Amino acid sequence: MLIKKPEDIKSSEITDKKLYLSRRLFIRGAVLAGSTVATGLVYRHFTSHGEEAQAGEKIADVQAAPPAIATLNESKTSYEDITHYNNFYEFSTDKQAVAQKAKNYITRPWTVSVEGLVNKPRVFDIDDLLKISPPEERVYRHRCVEAWSMVIPWVGFPLGKLLDQVQPMSQAKYVAFESLADPKQMPNVKSDILQWPYVEGLRLDEAMHPLTILASGLYDETLPPQNGAPLKLVVPWKYGFKGIKSIIRIKLVDDEPPTTWNIAGPREYGFYSNVNPNVDHPRWSQKTERRIGEFGRRDTLMFNGYADQVAQLYGGMDLKKYY
Ligand code: MTE
Repeated sequence: MLIKKPEDIKSSEITDKKLYLSRRLFIRGAVLAGSTVATGLVYRHFTSHGEEAQAGEKIADVQAAPPAIATLNESKTSYEDITHYNNFYEFSTDKQAVAQKAKNYITRPWTVSVEGLVNKPRVFDIDDLLKISPPEERVYRHRCVEAWSMVIPWVGFPLGKLLDQVQPMSQAKYVAFESLADPKQMPNVKSDILQWPYVEGLRLDEAMHPLTILASGLYDETLPPQNGAPLKLVVPWKYGFKGIKSIIRIKLVDDEPPTTWNIAGPREYGFYSNVNPNVDHPRWSQKTERRIGEFGRRDTLMFNGYADQVAQLYGGMDLKKYY
């Protein structure tokens, strides 16, 4: 982000070989141990609209439709890395310090207000909100704007299921999100390194896309504080900073909402922030990425590899202008 560019990443932040090998063993163990759960969660049948097959629906019909959420055939990043290499500026700008600084973060009781241009505004208690739709495991690529990436097994449900509950009005065109900003718990909220609270936004069609989820867990565990407990947005075809953490408010609006990183550096961070190897960040290339836990670099994929599912959202748009 603004404070550190990829070239500045210290060698101490790069996984050394011994650690890497032990992590590989851990990953293999975790994959084997998780395979029963994953089979139940990932190989559910979805209709072509991303809806789960209803009881009584003919399975043959469902199987004929292409799955909306394809299984990702890439090694998952270790739990240790996913939970100890974080951006959560409210706590720290040092990725490896966030877990420690957020360890006493209190996330119950918690409410999320869903409001604005909706017919049924409601303040949800987090535990009621999490019952809206059964949690699913979604193994997604996570591409940070700083040119590193991970593969994360989130547990969550489509944001669209929550929005359906409040019934957006026809004037609603965008969704604005807001994080908690609690100076008592979050040391950096007293500073001006960013404007608080952290805010983000999506176009309504992006928010309703079946790939867009609200995550409340990862690796079958409750979401740890450092990853944005109790509720985090995950939009896998966009740079990671769109994934706003510790959400307390979701507001349906008619105009493009402000976003934290665009306020901090408008030339560097646009509203859309789609992963795009053809549009460089003004200070570095976005063509390749360092996958945490691997050696060498990988090519960055258009829309982070989700082009088949999402490219149509941006038909006719100049993606250099709308970065
Ligand atoms: N949300 C809040 N409230 N504060 C933050 O600093 N950082 C963003 C995003 N959401 C951030 C946030 C950035 S830059 C990234 S890359 C992702 O969270 C990191 O999510 P992770 O730690 O779960 O991988």
